[in-house]
Amino acid sequence: MESIEKKKRIVSLIQPTGVFTLGNYLGALKRFVELQDEYECVYGLADLHAITVRQEAAAFRKTILSSYALMLAIGIDPQKSLFFIQSQVPEHSQMAWVLNCYTQFGELSRMTQFKDKSAAHTDNVNAGLFTYPSLMAADILLYNAEYVPVGHDQKQHIELTRNIAERFNATYSPTFVVPEPLIAAKGSRIKSLQNPTKKMSKSDENVNAFVSLLDSPDDIMRKFKRAVTDSEAKVYCAEGKDGINNLMEIYSLMTGLDFAAIEKEFEGKGYGDFKVAVGESVVEKLRPIQENYKKLLADKAYLEDCFSKSAPEASSIARKTLSKVMKKVGFLPKK
Ligand code: TRP
Repeated sequence: MESIEKKKRIVSLIQPTGVFTLGNYLGALKRFVELQDEYECVYGLADLHAITVRQEAAAFRKTILSSYALMLAIGIDPQKSLFFIQSQVPEHSQMAWVLNCYTQFGELSRMTQFKDKSAAHTDNVNAGLFTYPSLMAADILLYNAEYVPVGHDQKQHIELTRNIAERFNATYSPTFVVPEPLIAAKGSRIKSLQNPTKKMSKSDENVNAFVSLLDSPDDIMRKFKRAVTDSEAKVYCAEGKDGINNLMEIYSLMTGLDFAAIEKEFEGKGYGDFKVAVGESVVEKLRPIQENYKKLLADKAYLEDCFSKSAPEASSIARKTLSKVMKKVGFLPKK
């Protein structure tokens, strides 16, 4: 007899902060798309997280909408997956408050993202920046997800989420599913094209250091041609060849070729040829995404329809978990 196995659930949110980079794409977004067949996927735009850094209202509104459109353009399929905007699902903030009271000051103080961000924005070290991880724990735990696909930099936050869940379960009774991070072997450490020991970041002051998903073909080619490599002029992976390792990883993810096949393809050729090939592979991959994006962004009614439908769907799952938690904590139920 054929067994109908229930798909496991995954949850992941991404902050709508400006345009996504190639690093975001290879480290997270491309995987979000691929995971849609194997898992029941819950995705969201973490706009509540984004205000831990000051946002200008009109620009922020635009960025949220364009990020939503870009995610759809990349291939998040609202027929297959739930894809909502975090601020439109009030259970996230409600659960975050409760979880704040089950998260220790010491734990939050140890988070490297908090240390980095508070050092970068010394004039705005707000309480939200500090409690960011308990909101993230709420995002995850509300949906009883088994896995959380994230980049390396988020591993510590998932560990904290697990600790919060285990603590709550032990204090009351099993309530939360304790989730595991799903970190891809490849792609989650895409480096800056200008300083390949550093992560590719859209906040880099050197625009040649990162490729944005909406860069023009000319810009993309220029950035790859200028990518920092080494003086050996031989395409192969090795320790210390950070620039070439990074370009090989990008090329591998774009073409599906493994490193051995890439070394073979560029045997006897210099870095010039290799950089052009990497650039072209990126241009070709991004072309349909950019076309889709333009169409979607021009159809605001469609975008609004998508997120207005997904928010109540997300709420109806989240509400069940939130009610259970509130009851266990001892709040009076509404009659
Ligand atoms: N903190 C994550 C990041 O900066 C974004 C995020 C918010 C998230 N909530 C989440 C990721 C829940 C996974 C699950 O990348």
